[in-house]
Amino acid sequence: MRTISAVAATRTCVIVTTLAGGSLVWMSMSAAYGEGGGGAVKPWIVPARAAQKKNPVAADEKSLTLGQQLYVRECRSCHGAAGRGDGKAGIDLEPRPTNLTEPSLWDQSDGAMFWKITEGRGDMPGHKELLTDAERWHVLNYMRSLAPRPPAKEPEFEAPPACGEALSSVVHRYLDLHGALVRSDLNTAQNCCGSFASTLSELAQAQSALDEARRAAWKSDVEAIQKAQAAVSDSSSDLVSLRSAFRDLSASLAQALRHFGHAEASPVLAYEVGQGANSKMWLQAFGPAENPYGRGAPAPDMPCNRFARIRSSGAARVK
Ligand code: HEC
Repeated sequence: MRTISAVAATRTCVIVTTLAGGSLVWMSMSAAYGEGGGGAVKPWIVPARAAQKKNPVAADEKSLTLGQQLYVRECRSCHGAAGRGDGKAGIDLEPRPTNLTEPSLWDQSDGAMFWKITEGRGDMPGHKELLTDAERWHVLNYMRSLAPRPPAKEPEFEAPPACGEALSSVVHRYLDLHGALVRSDLNTAQNCCGSFASTLSELAQAQSALDEARRAAWKSDVEAIQKAQAAVSDSSSDLVSLRSAFRDLSASLAQALRHFGHAEASPVLAYEVGQGANSKMWLQAFGPAENPYGRGAPAPDMPCNRFARIRSSGAARVK
């Protein structure tokens, strides 16, 4: 049987895309990363405050009917009758109009969508002048009805406090590292890699608190994190390789949270956008000043694809 304390790999770098108090950090991170290659669409960055804006218009029948009329008038030519992004006027655009029936659109808050519709980008016209505020919310409500909303996912397993605490400290090291990467602060990032190692061994040890069934899942999650952490450590000589290794670390940590999301003094939400190899994951920290970004914003009511919520458990936070 493998003992987990052997885990303490030398240096770890954790990577998480954090939306502190909204999407600020994620934004600056995408910007900093520049998303090299793959022909991927340039991330469309929404200011945190805009993303947190609540939808003031209930999606009732009246709103949906109005929204549909406005959609036909303003959006259909490009986004298509059914919203699949296949309208005549959109065929030759690059990038193509977004497929509005994609469930992954629910990864974005109403506020974020509203802002995009308002501001536009490239061939997507801004609708500040074309539609009133209320009309933009109606059209958004209608647009939402085109994409099936995926169910929010809760953690699969209950985890005892020891596991929650260990996971919590790993998440915080990861957030620290992420912060350093966002600031392009290599020195601090390297230090974070170092301090991450000790939290990893805690993580491995915490398995003793689990019963047989959950232990297997925990072990495989921890091994994946260790592996990703080792890769991050190996890449810690420069920011570019560090960032690319950070992605795998994000994915492995996200997987653990999906299974065991739990126990955190302030809310941390983990999000997943996209699927398979193209998926991006990030953790979002909100709440009290002790979070790495020192923001006090409450967790906004984000939709969907939330796959783990680290709950407040009163567990001591590991510094
Ligand atoms: C002239 C063509 C055109 C019209 C008209 C148009 N769009 Fe778009 N839309 C686009 C294109 C092109 C994109 C992709 C822009 C990008 O990613 O740079 C887009 C992107 C979007 C997005 C962003 C989705 C995402 O990826 O996050 C939303 C939301 C959206 N459109 C909604 C609407 C709504 C609602 C209307 C009508 C009020 C509308 N669009 C009208 C072309 C259009």
